[in-house]
Amino acid sequence: MTDLDQQQADTLAALAAATTPDAVEAIRVGALGKAGWISALLKALGGMTPEQRSAEGPRIHAVREAVGGAITARKAALESAELEARLAAGRIDLSLPAPTTPRGSIHPVSQVMDELAEIFADMGFAVSTGPEIEDDWHNFTALNMPETHPARAMHDTFYFPDEDEAGRKMLLRTHTSPVQIRTMLAEGAPLRIIAPGRVYRSDSDATHTPMFHQVEGLVIDRGIHLGHLKWTLETFLKAFFERDDIVLRLRPSYFPFTEPSVEVDVGYTLVNGQDGKARRVLGGTEGWMELLGSGMVNRRVIEMGGLDPDEWQGFAFGVGVDRLAMLKYGMDDLRAFFDGDARWLGHYGFGALDVPTLSGGTGVRA
Ligand code: PHE
Repeated sequence: MTDLDQQQADTLAALAAATTPDAVEAIRVGALGKAGWISALLKALGGMTPEQRSAEGPRIHAVREAVGGAITARKAALESAELEARLAAGRIDLSLPAPTTPRGSIHPVSQVMDELAEIFADMGFAVSTGPEIEDDWHNFTALNMPETHPARAMHDTFYFPDEDEAGRKMLLRTHTSPVQIRTMLAEGAPLRIIAPGRVYRSDSDATHTPMFHQVEGLVIDRGIHLGHLKWTLETFLKAFFERDDIVLRLRPSYFPFTEPSVEVDVGYTLVNGQDGKARRVLGGTEGWMELLGSGMVNRRVIEMGGLDPDEWQGFAFGVGVDRLAMLKYGMDDLRAFFDGDARWLGHYGFGALDVPTLSGGTGVRA
């Protein structure tokens, strides 16, 4: 019997030392498996006399109970420890700060275009678009600039080397004015549209880039005159710069597609900045800066748009969107607009939720 006691003690000690469910399983097979030592003892009971069996039986069954129970308990303990370890390894600590994934921003040009659409929508203007790869007729001829017109030379045009299938000379549009023609031809009159978009000229320095942005405005209706143009521009600029003291100065000018043509200047005031340098702030009449070109749509352009100029009149204007953004948000180098520098975009960009509205203000910086 001391042998049996010893064997039981050894097995329980081995179980306590086992560190994996597999090790416990090996001990179980060695004791209770088909060829296990406890199974052998139980089998031996069958060959005993009834007296021997009643003497040995309870003792052998007790060993089987003790070892079997210890195996089950050890297995359960190791398995739950293993589960705990797996859970601990895969745990997400929700109290950690959120990861700082890079956040994109809305480019100031996109933001300003949205502001313009919002302001003009309030005055009943729809948004129109046209192709950036334009033909010579829409970009020049239909705008009263025939082949030999000297104004063509002012545009530093990028021409394509080949003509299109219809034999038209193709170019990158030099202004958004061809959208005037396309919209008149497609929609007729009356019309109230703005046409924002990219334009191209072979020109590059701190204030000129080969690609830049314009927004065209066009109104065609009956009895339209210069007063409508002036009121529209004043209302737009006051809303855009969010100031009531914006003053406009209209100067006679020349564009082939408007007659009369007016260059529009906006008044500014000099304010001393913290660095002691004078800064120009829009509003007031201390000085003037040139802002945009405009005029009454030339009769010949209305005709090219398929309309009768005795019935329909209109005004048009074209303004640099990048320049509007610089004046409103204080950037001083146009080239930085198109560098794609994440630091510049982080500083001057807008949050995706800063949707411009007339009531909420049209430009809240992110
Ligand atoms: N298209 C002109 C330019 O790019 C601007 C303009 C538009 C002037 C409409 C008058 C009327 O300079």
